[in-house]
Amino acid sequence: MTSIGIHDLAVATTHHVLDLAELAEATGVEPAKYHRGLGQEQMSFPAPDEDIVTMGASAAALLLAEHGTDGIRSLLFATESGVDQSKAAGVFAHHLLGLPSTVRTVEFKQACYGGAAALQTALGIVARNPEERVLVIASDVARYELDGPAAPTQGAGAVAILVSADPALLAIEPHSGVHTADIDDFWRPNDTTTPLVDGALSLQTYLDALLGSWGDLQAHGGPGVDEIDRFLYHQPFTKMARKAHAALFRHEDRPVDESALETSFLYNRQLGNSYTASLFVGLAALLDHDDDLAGRRLGLFSYGSGSVGEFLTGIVQSGYRERRRREATESALAARVPLTVEEYRALHVSYTDDSDERETPRTTAAPFRFAGVRDRIRRYERTAGA
Ligand code: HMG
Repeated sequence: MTSIGIHDLAVATTHHVLDLAELAEATGVEPAKYHRGLGQEQMSFPAPDEDIVTMGASAAALLLAEHGTDGIRSLLFATESGVDQSKAAGVFAHHLLGLPSTVRTVEFKQACYGGAAALQTALGIVARNPEERVLVIASDVARYELDGPAAPTQGAGAVAILVSADPALLAIEPHSGVHTADIDDFWRPNDTTTPLVDGALSLQTYLDALLGSWGDLQAHGGPGVDEIDRFLYHQPFTKMARKAHAALFRHEDRPVDESALETSFLYNRQLGNSYTASLFVGLAALLDHDDDLAGRRLGLFSYGSGSVGEFLTGIVQSGYRERRRREATESALAARVPLTVEEYRALHVSYTDDSDERETPRTTAAPFRFAGVRDRIRRYERTAGA
């Protein structure tokens, strides 16, 4: 059987960054709580002319520059920070990227799980038509109430994934384990720009969904814990992945070995939560920094509050080291412009997703920008950096 999976993967993030040590100092919290307690160092923060569309298109542009658009007939855009209740964010991205009109474009939503759902759909499309390639974009801005307990777990980022037959990076195996439970741990009503969160409940339901998905994977003939070489988890903050790993290994009655986890934290510790993109940002970090992955099996757990989980597995392909984008991702992280806490607060407070007429200040150095709203329509444009 032809293998299908991730052929290429690119990461994009925001213009700004906030150092959590500065946030801690300004709010009278010990920095160690954020650094060790949550496992986070920094968080990406969007400029007024950046959003999920500009980040997602920026990540996808890196893939298209290398692979072109031949065979791409689907653009699946996953997000939970959508910019319109009706129009898919992917349609704006489709235009910015200059994709042909012969593409189906649609948006996926189920909290942070949407990225994995889009990936699964892409695998199904390629299974039916192996000559097709599917462009998946997962892009989110995690924006919580200013000064609330979740504020240090904010962040923003996007990944673009090219799904194809005979992939160069990761062949996804056919079995996966899934789990749904109607839980109110985290949700965002239509009349608010920040989610409502029951933090303690969210930690528990994440773990319940992990064990539920894992049990389903086992029931469907998936590999056992000893047959998986590296584990990757959705990372709302990197400590959560440690908790997940410990829970899974305790459940399987195995000593907890965290040694291989750290590598998958390298980008997310600096980016913060990027919701739908987070698991795949972890995957990018692992592929970019672990030289001994060829032929190894990865286990990937996606969690979306509300709640849905899925446990997937995949085999890293022999040529993966030639396809890595470590330099591009590290440069994007290093290029972010630091915010003072006052600047961060001002940006947070001034954020709106309404359709009032406005022009945004030119700030981003990304190839695309959100220019503002005219006639209640969101306007996007290419920048000089495009
Ligand atoms: P909190 O109340 O600020 O933190 O909320 P805490 O008091 O529980 O402390 C956090 C950790 O820091 C603890 O570690 C403390 O011991 C430690 P733990 O016991 O958990 O291992 N700590 C310290 N460590 C070192 N030095 C110190 C120190 N002080 C304390 N001085 C919470 C934390 C995560 C609940 C909050 O930030 C929150 O609500 N975040 C948003 C919700 C979230 O991320 N949930 C995760 C699971 S749900 C999920 O992943 C889905 C999601 O991505 C959304 C989606 O699906 O769309 C969120």
